[in-house]
Amino acid sequence: MRNTRFLLCVLLLVSLAVLPAAAITLAEAREAAGHTAGALADFSLAVGGWQFQLEAPDDARLPSFDDSAWKPMAALQEWPNEHTYGWYRARLVVPERLRGIPTRGRPLTLLVGVDDRGELYVNGELRQKFEWNDGRVVLAETAQPGTSYLLAVKAINDTDEGELHFARLQVAGAEELAGARDAFLDVLRRSLQFCSHAEKPDPKWLGAISQAAATGAAAAQDLTSLPVRLQQARAQLGPVFAAMAKQPVFLAPPYLQNASPTGITVMWEAAGEFPAQVEYRESMYAAPRQVACPATALGQVRLEGLKPGTAYMYRVVLGSVAGPWHTFRTAPLGGEAVRFAVWADSQSHPEIFEPLVGLMARFRPDLAVGVGDAMGRGGNLDEWVDQLLWPMRGLSAETPFYAAIGNHEYGGFERTCPPFERYRDHPTASSGNEYWYAFDYGPARFIMLDPNQEDGPLGQRISPGSAQYQWLARELADAAARAKWIFVFFHQPPYSECWGGGYYDGEAHLRAEIVPLLERYQVDIVFSGHTHDYERGLPHPPYDPATGTGNEVTYIITGGGGGTLDNHKYRDWPQLDLPDHPADPKSDAADEGRYYQHHCCLVEAAGDTLRFTVHAMKPDGSYAGVLDQFQLKAKDRSGIR
Ligand SMILES: [Fe+2]
Ligand SMILES: [Fe+2]
Repeated sequence: MRNTRFLLCVLLLVSLAVLPAAAITLAEAREAAGHTAGALADFSLAVGGWQFQLEAPDDARLPSFDDSAWKPMAALQEWPNEHTYGWYRARLVVPERLRGIPTRGRPLTLLVGVDDRGELYVNGELRQKFEWNDGRVVLAETAQPGTSYLLAVKAINDTDEGELHFARLQVAGAEELAGARDAFLDVLRRSLQFCSHAEKPDPKWLGAISQAAATGAAAAQDLTSLPVRLQQARAQLGPVFAAMAKQPVFLAPPYLQNASPTGITVMWEAAGEFPAQVEYRESMYAAPRQVACPATALGQVRLEGLKPGTAYMYRVVLGSVAGPWHTFRTAPLGGEAVRFAVWADSQSHPEIFEPLVGLMARFRPDLAVGVGDAMGRGGNLDEWVDQLLWPMRGLSAETPFYAAIGNHEYGGFERTCPPFERYRDHPTASSGNEYWYAFDYGPARFIMLDPNQEDGPLGQRISPGSAQYQWLARELADAAARAKWIFVFFHQPPYSECWGGGYYDGEAHLRAEIVPLLERYQVDIVFSGHTHDYERGLPHPPYDPATGTGNEVTYIITGGGGGTLDNHKYRDWPQLDLPDHPADPKSDAADEGRYYQHHCCLVEAAGDTLRFTVHAMKPDGSYAGVLDQFQLKAKDRSGIR
């Protein structure tokens, strides 16, 4: 027995000496990169040592107040009492250095977030009333290490649990490092994407990624050397970059955009920059025609001079590697019928979105439309591929798809969303931009809006007088005069019943400013997302512009593309029929779950009849049956002035 054990020990030691260190797996490299992103997420220092008391007197704001009987309470610890408030107190002494940066003489900012709103006091003085995570005050213009501040936060809880989300101290100069950080995280994530899409990822590449991730995470400790350390981390990715430049690998396989009767756009993204060509032909027996694309990572080729309503085969040859043949169909010239799929809010759940894409593909739609929130945060560039273009591939290789932009695409950006412009080719003939635009397909006019920004350079705010509003009014007048069907898509809904927490019931400004236009021109269907469920309202005429009551338009919320589902109905809009169970604004408990399912919509318009079917999907990707169906008749718009 003793000898056996000894032998086993020897064998183990020998094997450890002979075998190479265990190779890093893709999952491990991904986890390391995630850890690094977390370590670099912000450049501040958490303020700790909070004492808490529920419904303490307002004297708690004063430095002289005695809180010795209070209990310690860290950030992210919930207190359950609705319609109450709690006081947090902490003493803060300015450190010599903050994440390595000397504080002396620099401006020092305090960032605070609470559920649901708060009042922030410094040394007894009210400095800010704020909501949610918007607490932000300059603690000192020129910080002196050793100075002590008494911080008091009154957190007011309107619904559900109350909580201090965070309290952080940031020194001026730290924010300027965000650019270097973001650039490094982008290359780190791109390296990972390359490994996950390459046919045989070399263990050396994964080792390089986890090394670079470790260097990056360590760099977060001392911000003074951050740019240099991130350069070193980048250099460690060398073997991956070298492979990327040599091996033609699709990150986003070819996808279709912007189909017209005579043209279509083929796009793709490769890990490295390779010359490419698109080959296409009408049948297997025809000689293929070619269109070349100069060396680039994000490929885009417009095929023109095609026949209307015609099927073509195409493939993309990337470097020397030919991809598989696919089929596309050009849009018909006019025509009586169109079939399209719609989804929204697939954000952060590609594992749910991918089977939903498979469900949409089964119905062989002519086109598909995503109504926003296709990813968790548009500023994380890898999410455009990982959460949208890769899981879309089962549909997008053969079906052109369009987007109405959501608030999550804008996450990390202000005013414009560069990746939205880069990864998309939208028909801009009528609007001149890719955020709000319109196009014909068969008997229908499709109109996409962007209600996300108040006053962006594109005039996204859709209020009377804005460029988008004026364009929309012209579009609707034109469509009402000549299109059989008018479909309008925008992410945030005018009416919503089931937004989690119940504090949102749709966009008041859209109800006041856009709905009157949509109703006046008798739009057939308005599609939105944002709320994560299925909500639907058939017409309840007449619409009264004076009071805003009634509706001629069918309103759909189709926010079941993959994001975490809402599960409770808080209010009842007369414009919405589903969910059809009673609303209960006083509770947050999950209620009858029929309309809180992942789903997609299928619209089939032929002649004067439109069939609308909603297909539901279980979380495991299996089909869950028809969630809703109805028919609409084409409208007579001849009386509209
Ligand atoms: Fe969403
Ligand atoms: Fe949203």
